[in-house]
Amino acid sequence: MLTHQENMFMAQVGPGTPMGELLRRFWHPVLLSEELPEPDCPPKRTKILGEELIAFRDTNGDVGLVDNYCPHRRASLFFGRNEESGLRCVYHGWKFDINGDCVDMPSEPAESNFKDKVKINAYPTREGAGMVWAYMGPKELQPEMPQLEYLDVPEDQFVSTKVMYESNFVQVIEGEIDTVHASLLHSNLDSLAKSESATTVGGRYSYKDRPPRFFVEDTDSGILIGARREAEEDSYYWRISRWLFPYITMIPREPQGSARSGLIVPIDDENCWFFWVRWNPFRALSDDEIQTYKLMQASLAPVTYLGQANKRNDYMIDREMQRTVNYTGIPQNNARAQDAAMTDSMGAISDRDNEHLGTTDMAIIRMRRRLIQAAQALQEGTEPYAASHPEVYKVRSGGAVLPRDVYFTDDASVQEDIFVK
Ligand code: FES
Ligand SMILES: [Fe+2]
Repeated sequence: MLTHQENMFMAQVGPGTPMGELLRRFWHPVLLSEELPEPDCPPKRTKILGEELIAFRDTNGDVGLVDNYCPHRRASLFFGRNEESGLRCVYHGWKFDINGDCVDMPSEPAESNFKDKVKINAYPTREGAGMVWAYMGPKELQPEMPQLEYLDVPEDQFVSTKVMYESNFVQVIEGEIDTVHASLLHSNLDSLAKSESATTVGGRYSYKDRPPRFFVEDTDSGILIGARREAEEDSYYWRISRWLFPYITMIPREPQGSARSGLIVPIDDENCWFFWVRWNPFRALSDDEIQTYKLMQASLAPVTYLGQANKRNDYMIDREMQRTVNYTGIPQNNARAQDAAMTDSMGAISDRDNEHLGTTDMAIIRMRRRLIQAAQALQEGTEPYAASHPEVYKVRSGGAVLPRDVYFTDDASVQEDIFVK
């Protein structure tokens, strides 16, 4: 549990808040590249870390991310004309380039140099893994992009999309690293019976021994989590996941299998984006892997990227399905609806002074502590290590069946699998 004060310290992300300042030391995915499909296409509204912003792709194909409000008299640049390397406010025609410089001011006399004095707030952007990324922190501290493996694999080895969640970002991170829920929330009523014939290692062992024993290690990038279950008489099954500063998760994978990552970016204190990447480090994604992604995409409302199953329709819960088919009665592939139903239903900011954490919540406790400590350290002048060391992101999650006397990080094949060379 956290006190109300600690809870709000962790949850608030706006400019000037301690957590907001910590987050602003890192690069953030702000929208999908597909939302700005071509040069000079319509601009898009977005909101990140409580800031209302407009994204546009200019004539050269570069992405600008500027304040929503025109610095003249504050009309929204959403209505702007995206033309000849700049976004023009349609109220009085002031035009801004991707650097935020005012490049034309037709409402002022030609001899005026007022335009050289006016700028709009603009953030630097990059593109990678199908996402537009932005850096919103102090200019002099702008780091390199994190060296995540999925930013560096060929196009046929990854897919990415995003889903809107209607809750604070931290409880969504908690859902991602709380891997014990997979064998409950996401299970079907016959999962245990089917585990004997399961073709995956996870399917074989996750249901027989539901509560795993958690082991958590601090790393430079965040935390490494080993969830240990009984496998055969002489072995354990380890599900290995990660949380990376400040909100990147990597859920367990099949031994040597393809991988998934969540990037849980605050929209504001009460909503967040779940950017979702599936990638394979070694080969093109299979049809099956792409199919899961397509199902997820098909269940999203256009423009908002909110799941069709959402809190307004109780995530399409079907009580008959809950009685006879699966644990929740909520469809599995509907834009992560099972997860969203749980984390959204806690309330926009979960009331953590009324929770009761058990032994399987160990990773959650550690993640919160690391996040809070990093924000406190920054208040005292210590910059977060991971932000300026992009190489610490060269990691993966994992999964392995190991002899009972081997700790998961001591095994050579696990070491090989959870670091990117
Ligand atoms: S309000 Fe934008 S140009 Fe006047
Ligand atoms: Fe889940």
